[in-house]
Amino acid sequence: MIPDDLEQMLSPLEYRLLCELIYEYCGIRFEESARYMITRRLWPRVRALGLTTFTEYYRYLKYSPKARGELDELVERVTTNETYFFREDYQLRAFTEEILPEIAPKDHPHKRLRIWSAGCSSGEEAYTIGMLCTESRHLAGWDIEIFGNDISKKVLGMARAARYPQSAFRSTDKRYIDRYFKAVDGGRYEVVDEIKKLVTFGHLNLLDSVALSLVGQNDVIFCRNVMIYFDEAARKIVLKNLFKRLRPGGYLLLGHSESLLNVSTEFEIVSLKNDLVYRRPG
Ligand SMILES: C[S@@+](CC[C@H](N)C(=O)[O-])C[C@H]1O[C@@H](n2cnc3c(N)ncnc32)[C@H](O)[C@@H]1O
Repeated sequence: MIPDDLEQMLSPLEYRLLCELIYEYCGIRFEESARYMITRRLWPRVRALGLTTFTEYYRYLKYSPKARGELDELVERVTTNETYFFREDYQLRAFTEEILPEIAPKDHPHKRLRIWSAGCSSGEEAYTIGMLCTESRHLAGWDIEIFGNDISKKVLGMARAARYPQSAFRSTDKRYIDRYFKAVDGGRYEVVDEIKKLVTFGHLNLLDSVALSLVGQNDVIFCRNVMIYFDEAARKIVLKNLFKRLRPGGYLLLGHSESLLNVSTEFEIVSLKNDLVYRRPG
């Protein structure tokens, strides 16, 4: 039950303390303007735990033996998971028409391509990459592995189920739907096995340098619309982690409103016909 005086339930101090916890855990910074949204999303959780104030909830998050699992629960409720298939098509064109031909030459010794969709949400980005790689004439006979990670277990469950409502297809050409999806219940479409088998998903926090060291070296990393919610310090940590997981000469693709200005000088900027992208020198 949402009380009428919900706005009063979370004091400015309680809000600051909760925001600090969220920030330390996953890098997302909330402004004062998000206080009501956070209150609305977290109050039902406070009540479900049998607690009566946000101060009690904060103590639970700090000192309960279940604190770690509760941080996961909290983050589920405050992350923005908006995504859809074939998002930012000019960038996908840069990937297929300019990046793939360069990183997949005919005389490549291993014919193995690894791509990471970092902050993949419910999987649309990772599967889109799978479809594009499948259709690329440069990758005929190649072994393609796509890895998607997210901090939210809920969206990863949706990614693994690979069943999507109409809204996920707002910028998808019908040709792809016909070729790579089958209609299932409730007007939804499921990704076909041919694409599913290229993609695996894992629960990983992009700030967790130790856990990320288990991710192998990648030829291309997509990290789009993830760091827009982070501050500079958190972006720096994530970019260091991504840099280490990109092979020399590999590409980093960010969302259209994101850049590395003030956060990293390790990558070089590459001006392609269709987009500006980043590359690990080497
Ligand atoms: C807006 S979605 C972007 C999805 C996709 N990359 C796209 O551009 O369509 C951002 C995703 O980043 C995830 N995320 C936020 N902080 C994260 C972190 N520290 N580690 C891993 N994933 C994170 C969120 O859970 C969310 O699903």
